Amino acid sequence: MKNGKATKGERASFSGRLGYVLATAGSAVGLGNIWRFPYLAAKYGGGIFVLVYVVLALTFGYTLMVSETAIGRMTRKSAVGAFRTLGKGKASVAGGWFNAIIPILILPYYSVIGGWVCRYLFTYITGQVSQAAGDAYFTSFLGSAAGSEFWFLVFALATIIVIVLGVEGGVERISKIMMPAMVVLGVFVAIYSMTRPGAMAGVKYFLVPNFSNFSWMTVVAALGQMFYSLSCAMGILVTYGSYMKKDVDVEKASRQVIIFDSGIAILAGMMIIPAVFAFSNGDAATLKAGPSLMFITMPKIFDSMGFGRPVGIVFFLLVLFAALTSSISLAETCVSTFQDELGWKRLPSSLFVFGIMILLGSLSSLGYNLLSFVKLFGMEILDFFDFLTNSLMMPIAALIICALVIFAIKPSGIAQEIKQSSRFTGEKMYSVIVRFVAPVFILVIFITSVLSVLGVFSL
Ligand code: TRP
Repeated sequence: MKNGKATKGERASFSGRLGYVLATAGSAVGLGNIWRFPYLAAKYGGGIFVLVYVVLALTFGYTLMVSETAIGRMTRKSAVGAFRTLGKGKASVAGGWFNAIIPILILPYYSVIGGWVCRYLFTYITGQVSQAAGDAYFTSFLGSAAGSEFWFLVFALATIIVIVLGVEGGVERISKIMMPAMVVLGVFVAIYSMTRPGAMAGVKYFLVPNFSNFSWMTVVAALGQMFYSLSCAMGILVTYGSYMKKDVDVEKASRQVIIFDSGIAILAGMMIIPAVFAFSNGDAATLKAGPSLMFITMPKIFDSMGFGRPVGIVFFLLVLFAALTSSISLAETCVSTFQDELGWKRLPSSLFVFGIMILLGSLSSLGYNLLSFVKLFGMEILDFFDFLTNSLMMPIAALIICALVIFAIKPSGIAQEIKQSSRFTGEKMYSVIVRFVAPVFILVIFITSVLSVLGVFSL
């Protein structure tokens, strides 16, 4: 999607708004939408979670996306470089690095889940439709150290091979076909799931906000999910913005990505949550299943339909593509940070990233079997990395970005950048949120989630 290779001194760029939106949506839509959003919504209150999520995405998510993209477009650099150019001194370089480290911590455990998807694709290819729907299938897969490690390595290798060969363009081209296909299959599966007997209670749970399900954790989880799903608060959009042409409407592009990304997440919820009610009676234990939810409910849906095997194959293939485009873009960001900032060559940078993936990913994967005695603050290792990045580091990264905007660029500087290409209709809202609402709100969320993990109180 970048217009070929950049010639010396000239940065490659997206072809226009459509190019930018497609590329950004390709990195945004991934396991976050299909795997993570439905399980969080199921766990943290259903409709009320969805409501909080959508409000946060349209206010905070929008503010952060616009800021990061504008920062990238004005400096034509990725996170660390942009912070160095705009900020003052060492502190801002450190701020840039703090952003840049987050993808390096996400990529390993992302690949573990990618491995689960590969395993289920294989399960359906070999026709084990009814076995996969059994209650213990997922746990016994996770319980085998060799099995889960093997599939994690398959996914991690696929990602790094694409990076080393530099063939991301090919994957992007395929994913242009895969994304619409995913929407079509998603609608089909969601309708099937919603029309099962008993599923309506699930539709209601997912779509109708019930304030008695609200807890502070709903907000903490929704905020982390928003950063994660929109790929913001980790410097990625700075890089994407640096490839954006000066005539692209930043606001409109950001809104389109948010709407598309949230749409896919809600669609995934419509497949999974009604099925929890239809096939497991909506019992609390399944609703709170956490990371395993998609892998428990989808096989039950496929087993109950006539063509479970082909539908299962297509479903996991599409999820695999969504996951791969995201993991490739995560890995690419990590590799280019080392290339740009430390002057490393591409191959050593890629191998270093691969090494980190193997090391931290194996910890997450073995946390369910060999290392199952290890619990970090009461969490599985994978959950811990997820919590560390989404609930602790990204709020801080978001604060750092707000600080850069408030003190170094000034909201008017961002506005000036945006107005080069279009009107800035949300300017007032933007400047109020970035100056006051976001810093205060994020700080409160951050402090309460730290205190709750430390066991000072429970949320
Ligand atoms: N947004 C991606 C998803 O929903 C995950 C993700 C987080 C990501 N950070 C990223 C993808 C950076 C690409 C680049 O699955």
